[in-house]
Amino acid sequence: MGSLEALRKEAIQSIRKAEDAAAVEATRVLYLGRKDGRLTAVLRGLKSLSLEEKRKVGPEANKLRQELEEEVEKRQREVADDGGEKDFDPTMPGVRVRYGSAHPLTIIQERIAEIFTAMNFSVVEGPEVETEHYNFDALNIPVNHPAREMWDTFWLRSNQKETLTQKGERLLMRTHTSPVQIRFMEKNKPPFQVIAPGRVFRYEATDASHEINFHQVEGLAVGREVSLANFKYVIEEFLNAFFGTKLQFRFRPSYFPFTEPSVEVDIKIKNSIRQLADKNQNEGKWLEVMGAGMVHPEVLKGVGIDPKEWQGFAFGMGVERLAMLKHGIPDIRMFYEGDLRFVRQF
Ligand code: PHE
Repeated sequence: MGSLEALRKEAIQSIRKAEDAAAVEATRVLYLGRKDGRLTAVLRGLKSLSLEEKRKVGPEANKLRQELEEEVEKRQREVADDGGEKDFDPTMPGVRVRYGSAHPLTIIQERIAEIFTAMNFSVVEGPEVETEHYNFDALNIPVNHPAREMWDTFWLRSNQKETLTQKGERLLMRTHTSPVQIRFMEKNKPPFQVIAPGRVFRYEATDASHEINFHQVEGLAVGREVSLANFKYVIEEFLNAFFGTKLQFRFRPSYFPFTEPSVEVDIKIKNSIRQLADKNQNEGKWLEVMGAGMVHPEVLKGVGIDPKEWQGFAFGMGVERLAMLKHGIPDIRMFYEGDLRFVRQF
């Protein structure tokens, strides 16, 4: 035990005296080296001691090893810092600190949530991997329904075989955020009003306006007297707030299996819009920004909500598209290139 204490003093002294990284490393090898470090030798020698001695010396020797390892680390840090201090040259240009910042899509999604929560909507989420049931069937789109072709789907496979749930259902990457409507309505009683932002996937060729993955914000409001007129009010409020200007709107009849009637919403951006580049190519054109409609009675029935008592509206909009229109971004692929010159502009 006495010699352990002597070894400790000697080792700590030489570690602290070491002047640079190489010297600290040399003392580490001298005392803790795997092959013939002096403390390592003591630890190895434990084998030949009696059980009683082992019990006494063993824990002490191990504690010492830990202490010395910590001393070595501490000294390594000190000599590293010290070197910096000594070589400090105030005439050298500084190293620029680079801050991270939120991605433009994150900023846009936060803004969308802000506007809707101010109108008493809550934000909910659902999974990106979905079952065929939630993505299609529960939305009134059975197998072989021609409307399935509206959504080019990535089906999940492993080893050439379709991946199935325990119940034998096929799995896919959700093609829209509408399945979140179903998941939410199964668990909640109306009245409610929610938005569901999230990533969606489509098996399509990419170009300036198509990506295989993009983001949508789904909206759903169900109550006893919720009408299409309410939808019109809410969505005009939202779009005017989002673009920071009074827009012109057009509601065109459309078709979705899960809404009846269905509409598509177009906006016209006027000259006054500040955020847009002067000669924005979208200027003065009707631009489609979302699909919407009154939730189909069959969809309500499917989740146990009586369509004679309750009705509501739903909508789904593309986040990239809104961001592109707001900021005059010409190509959807720019969001995913990771080019800092692009990302830093927001
Ligand atoms: N889910 C539709 C789409 O992705 C959009 C939509 C949502 C339409 C809700 C109506 C109601 O194209």
